[in-house]
Amino acid sequence: MPVKQRLKNYADGVEAFLRGSLKGKGIPAGLLESMEYSLLAGGKRLRPVLCLCFARMLGAPAQAAMPFAASFEYIHTYSLVHDDLPAMDDDDLRRGRPSNHKVFGEAMAILAGDALLTEAFGLMARTSEFLPADRVSRAIATLARAAGAAGMVGGQALDMAYTAKAGVSLEELREMQALKTGALITAACVCGAELAGASDDLVARAKSYGQSVGAAFQIVDDVLDVVGDEKTLGKPVGSDEEQGKTTYPSLIGVDHSMDLARRHAAQAVDSLSPFEGEEAAFLRDLAQYIVDRVS
Ligand code: IPE
Ligand code: IPE
Ligand code: MG
Ligand code: MG
Ligand code: MG
Repeated sequence: MPVKQRLKNYADGVEAFLRGSLKGKGIPAGLLESMEYSLLAGGKRLRPVLCLCFARMLGAPAQAAMPFAASFEYIHTYSLVHDDLPAMDDDDLRRGRPSNHKVFGEAMAILAGDALLTEAFGLMARTSEFLPADRVSRAIATLARAAGAAGMVGGQALDMAYTAKAGVSLEELREMQALKTGALITAACVCGAELAGASDDLVARAKSYGQSVGAAFQIVDDVLDVVGDEKTLGKPVGSDEEQGKTTYPSLIGVDHSMDLARRHAAQAVDSLSPFEGEEAAFLRDLAQYIVDRVS
């Protein structure tokens, strides 16, 4: 089966879980509508799928890890809602529809993001119903660090500081992307391994895979902002240049950026050398797919 179809199959399981996950919690109707508008708008569901695959590959039942995996999508979705705000990237299209703030207004978009972030921690905590509490608390600490000030939010702060600034170096760009995008993707892999109770050595493999895939992923995201198609991507193209972002294409051009992304994908595949079976094969193909993708 093509890797795109296998990704879709894993993502369908996540989709089913997400669909009912905010219902019956007493969330005010307008806020619930805004949260679900962005959460249930599609998306590749890459981060939860990575978490589930590492959990399964290392011996945890996928269903047990599902609430934790879904929490990655809550946090990722909140980051997108805030990323699109006028004060940040000021983008009007996301996941093929008008951005959250275009439909619900800025205040509700900010609050929907806040709420998704907080609810994510409720989902993580629920995972201790299915898996040992010490594994779950370790994974919660990993995800909190990755999503927070020294992780994704820190990377977004660097992105803002570098916007419309001349002279951002390749090393500064690498570090910013490792935080804003790499941290959450890496944590998805690491948390899957931690939830499965994997040894330190295997957790380190998961981390290395995540770092390489995360780097490749954001480089390709930057490239698609230059050469991609708005309809296929479901978000605007040309936004980075318009905003004055430093990106891989802006520093080294599209071709060299793609070479670099391919090298990261090959490193990701190397990190998986101790693993075999269905999930390992999928994760190898996924590293390549991340480079070849058009959306
Ligand atoms: C977009 O992430 C934002 C980045 C971190 C590059 P995705 O490309 O995973 O977006 P969705 O979830 O599929 O919409
Ligand atoms: C987003 O980077 C990183 C996040 C943490 C959301 P971008 O700003 O390049 O993501 P897109 O291109 O808007 O999806
Ligand atoms: Mg951004
Ligand atoms: Mg953006
Ligand atoms: Mg982008």
